[in-house]
Amino acid sequence: MSLKTPKTVLLGTGYSVPEKVLTNQDLEKMVDTNDQWIQERTGIKERRIASPELTTSELCTRAARKALHDAGLKPKDIDVILVGTVTGDALFPATACYVQEKLGAVNAAAMDLQAACAGFVYVSTMADALISSGKAKHVLTIGGELLSRIVDWTDRSTCVLFGDGAGAAVWGAANDKNANKGIIDTYMKSDGRLTELLCSYGGGTKIPMKEAVENNQHFIKMQGQEVFKSAVKAMSEAVKSILAKNGLTGEDVDVLIPHQANIRIMNATVRKTKIAEEKVYVNVDRFGNTSAASIPIALAEARETGAIKPGQLILLVSFGGGFTWGSLLLQV
Ligand code: ACO
Repeated sequence: MSLKTPKTVLLGTGYSVPEKVLTNQDLEKMVDTNDQWIQERTGIKERRIASPELTTSELCTRAARKALHDAGLKPKDIDVILVGTVTGDALFPATACYVQEKLGAVNAAAMDLQAACAGFVYVSTMADALISSGKAKHVLTIGGELLSRIVDWTDRSTCVLFGDGAGAAVWGAANDKNANKGIIDTYMKSDGRLTELLCSYGGGTKIPMKEAVENNQHFIKMQGQEVFKSAVKAMSEAVKSILAKNGLTGEDVDVLIPHQANIRIMNATVRKTKIAEEKVYVNVDRFGNTSAASIPIALAEARETGAIKPGQLILLVSFGGGFTWGSLLLQV
């Protein structure tokens, strides 16, 4: 196995989820659904839901503090904060700016990137570009969502799927001690012809918020089966492409962390890419689909619990509204 020398190293991770657990049984009391249907179709048993006063930036900040602690760095060491989210605190300013203020990361530039569920793979790809080009020494990337705020809680076809949470990672330039670790390669793609299949199109400049609320256009809208098919196709393409480009096969991957949208999407992706099922990290049963937060929550949790061990080859792969998709190959 030959790998090109990585330059961007993972220094720390952390995640934060709200305390409140919403189970499938709780949902049975809210809409016409049942635990068996949800588990069979999605693999989800429960998800976390934020209390009304909690903000996306607060959840992101909690995750970021843990990642900074794990990395042994202070907020002032961060040069750039990148937040992937579709549920930011406000239309503007960027949620990353609120995170910067809360952390006291006074030396950072802060911005958001909107790539829906692929947000964390996208922001981490940007972190790699900034660090490997020498433009930044330390980059904090975060995926954070309060999807419960844009879910229609009367729509059983979507409300059973989503949850709230945030995950963060701190990246830095490799030195002599960790030169054999870090990001090996990244892959990103989009297809803007498929915007209508998964979106929340009200409340922007096309359909202003007042009109959107009057017509129920401020919620997540999804054509589930079409999204399912596209997700499997795109995620398997992202896995196969990055492995082939780096002279690797599914056997070389130690842990695959796919976007935690639906267990059936993950299983179908794995079947197409010949990665053994036991290598797939799954926590969708406990957190549901947290969009941009799902991969960094899983990455942080896997490192915390020892499901990822130093020296292993990790593959992140994601897919989201836009459509956007991508993968990131990482030696930890
Ligand atoms: N409880 C009970 N029955 C339900 C529910 C529910 N929560 N939701 C839908 N149904 C019913 C439908 O009304 C339909 O009934 P009918 O046959 O009488 O008309 C039946 O179940 C089947 O509905 P489908 O939509 O065909 O169900 P499907 O097997 O496609 O599963 C699902 C739906 C889980 C949404 C699936 O399409 C899916 O996983 N799609 C992928 C989308 C996804 O994961 N999106 C997350 C966001 S995307 C992202 O993160 C990138």
